[in-house]
Amino acid sequence: MHARIRTVTMLALMAGSLLSPLAHAHGDVTPQAVDVTTLKPLGDQKRDENPYRGDPEAIRVGTSAYNQNCARCHGLEAISGGIAPDLRKLDIDKETDIYFRDSVLRGKVRNGAVYMPPFEGILSQEAIWAIRSYLDTRHEVAAAPANEMEVLAKKSNCLSCHAVDTRGVGPAYREVATKYAKDKNAEAKLLAKVKKGGAGNWGKVPMPPMNAVAESDLKALIKWIMAGAK
Ligand code: HEC
Ligand code: HEC
Repeated sequence: MHARIRTVTMLALMAGSLLSPLAHAHGDVTPQAVDVTTLKPLGDQKRDENPYRGDPEAIRVGTSAYNQNCARCHGLEAISGGIAPDLRKLDIDKETDIYFRDSVLRGKVRNGAVYMPPFEGILSQEAIWAIRSYLDTRHEVAAAPANEMEVLAKKSNCLSCHAVDTRGVGPAYREVATKYAKDKNAEAKLLAKVKKGGAGNWGKVPMPPMNAVAESDLKALIKWIMAGAK
């Protein structure tokens, strides 16, 4: 068991150093190997729930693994600097554990654009759950949603990048309402933009296409945003 894990770690290390020049050439990040030999081995079967929650050693390993692999996009100490969602807001429950695991394994790739690289084959299961254990310690409860539209926005994943009043990865919804207040075609334009994604109106960071959300929900959300997100 242990020998296997060491091999995997070594392979990841080698892959990291072999791939780094290439990765740099493409402007990608270089994944860093994580030493998980001090953690209880988890075997090959994927866990649906963080097996290390609260384990001090996992938190220690996870802190450095996070700093090496995630902080450049998700921010030091998990305080988002605005290019990737704030991971302190992830709920602590089994459903979110599964979402977290799969987000890290698969990355975030849509229509060929890599918003976040996949870590499958780079981070071991042990490393992924160690990072999750660290993030648990940084957890911050977001303010309770003020109304049913905010609930819909949260469910539709909009609030991982947007907030009503403050700028996150994307503009504050109040800013959007102000910017397009005089534009009669704003709702139609914004619907097209949110479905297709894209950058340029607020900065260089693109919004991913949100076409997984039902069009009727997107329409309702945009109406709500344009009305000041109240
Ligand atoms: C190159 C930048 C980059 C790196 C490195 C990166 N991420 Fe991400 N991550 C993103 C972006 C951008 C998104 C949002 C993309 C989207 O929604 O399509 C994201 C989304 C996520 C999500 C989903 C968050 C949500 O609220 O829906 C999780 C979980 C996550 N990342 C965890 C990690 C972890 C853990 C690491 C390190 C092992 C990591 N990421 C490394 C850029 C990055
Ligand atoms: C991964 C981060 C992310 C997610 C998730 C996200 N957005 Fe955005 N959003 C952005 C960014 C970044 C911009 C700024 C794009 C630009 O500069 O043109 C933006 C811009 C917008 C705008 C203004 C568009 C413009 O052209 O001025 C609206 C409206 C919007 N988002 C609504 C939504 C809605 C509704 C959802 C959920 C269904 C959502 N966003 C999900 C990141 C995100």
